[in-house]
Amino acid sequence: MILSLHMDKFIVRGGTRLQGSVAISGAKNASLALMPTCLLTSGTLTLTNTPNNRDLGTMSRLLSSMGVGMHLEGDVLKLDASNITSHEAPYEHVKQMRASIYVLGPLVARFGNARVSLPGGCNFGPRPVDLHLKGLEKLGATIDLSGGYINASCDRLKGTHFHFDISSVGASVNILTAAVLASGHTTLTNVAIEPEVTAVANLLVKMGARIQGIGTTTLEIEGVDELHPVTEATIPDRIEAATFMLAAAMTRGDVTLTNIDASHLSAVTQSMEDSGCTIDIDGSTMRVRMNGTPEAEDITAAIYPGFPTDTQAQWAAYMLTANGASRIKDTIYPTRFGYVPELQRLGADIETGEGYCVVKGGARLTGATVMSSDLRASVSLVMAGLVADGETEILRVYHLDRGYEGLEHKLGALGAHIERVRTEVY
Ligand code: UD1
Repeated sequence: MILSLHMDKFIVRGGTRLQGSVAISGAKNASLALMPTCLLTSGTLTLTNTPNNRDLGTMSRLLSSMGVGMHLEGDVLKLDASNITSHEAPYEHVKQMRASIYVLGPLVARFGNARVSLPGGCNFGPRPVDLHLKGLEKLGATIDLSGGYINASCDRLKGTHFHFDISSVGASVNILTAAVLASGHTTLTNVAIEPEVTAVANLLVKMGARIQGIGTTTLEIEGVDELHPVTEATIPDRIEAATFMLAAAMTRGDVTLTNIDASHLSAVTQSMEDSGCTIDIDGSTMRVRMNGTPEAEDITAAIYPGFPTDTQAQWAAYMLTANGASRIKDTIYPTRFGYVPELQRLGADIETGEGYCVVKGGARLTGATVMSSDLRASVSLVMAGLVADGETEILRVYHLDRGYEGLEHKLGALGAHIERVRTEVY
């Protein structure tokens, strides 16, 4: 079932080439956005290809606390919001996972009120929720902030025009899931076009919503009075896929990924090919092969379809093995370089500047104890461990468990020497 909070560590012994086949799970970030849409209707919403990771556990507990009936069997998750008993997302859940704020839009739209704890900062800088609140206000909700909570209320949301000043995945999902039940017409502009937003829009249409422009930055929404429950498959996890692509390449491996959507991976695929990697795509399967030393390639993390910010730490790990220096820039989270000092403890040669780092490939890496600071940072440490001499101990892998399902089993099946050591459970 869902993993509980723990202080496990990984011990990785470097030096093996990854070889074989790995099945990619459903997308964590899509799942987190799809699940709260159950609040928009009574009856059972069924989501297939559901991943099993710690963030999904947090969202499940949050929805259960509101009275949503939940049933998970394998990767099939059933959610039933027929008997909602609370419209509140308490701090204890939101502090664990910012995506808890996804319940705000659906609650206000269907029940006319919601009380959601304000998320705090995070490990890679301030992450405001002003756009979520402005959008809801524009749709006619009254928002009051007090005691660390967002209190939102309305009679019925009313169609409007709302422009997102910044392209935001979370705000786009929240406002879209509210606008579908508003009265009249809503136009949303500068909507994020990440595949997770498109996945939510497609689900909503299946549920009876009227949305045009899906996949573009302008959505035209004709509000409906009610939606109905449906069954929908969660899209494959493009970040997990990118992680395995890069892990395969940096170990000079030969790995086939199954259950992927290659169209979501274009930026990563292109940069990897430019670095000398061979990538063959056949439907939902991708084979990644690397012979010899990759050439250094610069990347800039940007909004979709640009290179994903959630993959820049893994790119840094890959570039540790490259010929030359690679400049890695993050335009979304310019301070998201918490992994650099940890990689340096393994012997990595990396310089940091304002919003970027420069990885100089070829330095000899030797195993050491390193500390995870956030989800994607921690997986970059595991990846570096795969190519370091000796043993690397990665502490606090609960960060990693937020978004990866059985990472040690998947890597182990590809030949990696990786072991989870259970150190504390609470
Ligand atoms: C989502 C992903 C996260 C990814 C990020 C960017 C989930 C659960 N998380 O996070 O893994 O790294 O997209 O691709 O899907 N912003 C504002 N005001 C707001 C909202 C956002 O200024 O109200 C800013 C943020 O500070 C950031 C930028 O917009 O600089 C983009 O953030 P956003 O797309 O909202 O990220 P999340 O949805 O939180």
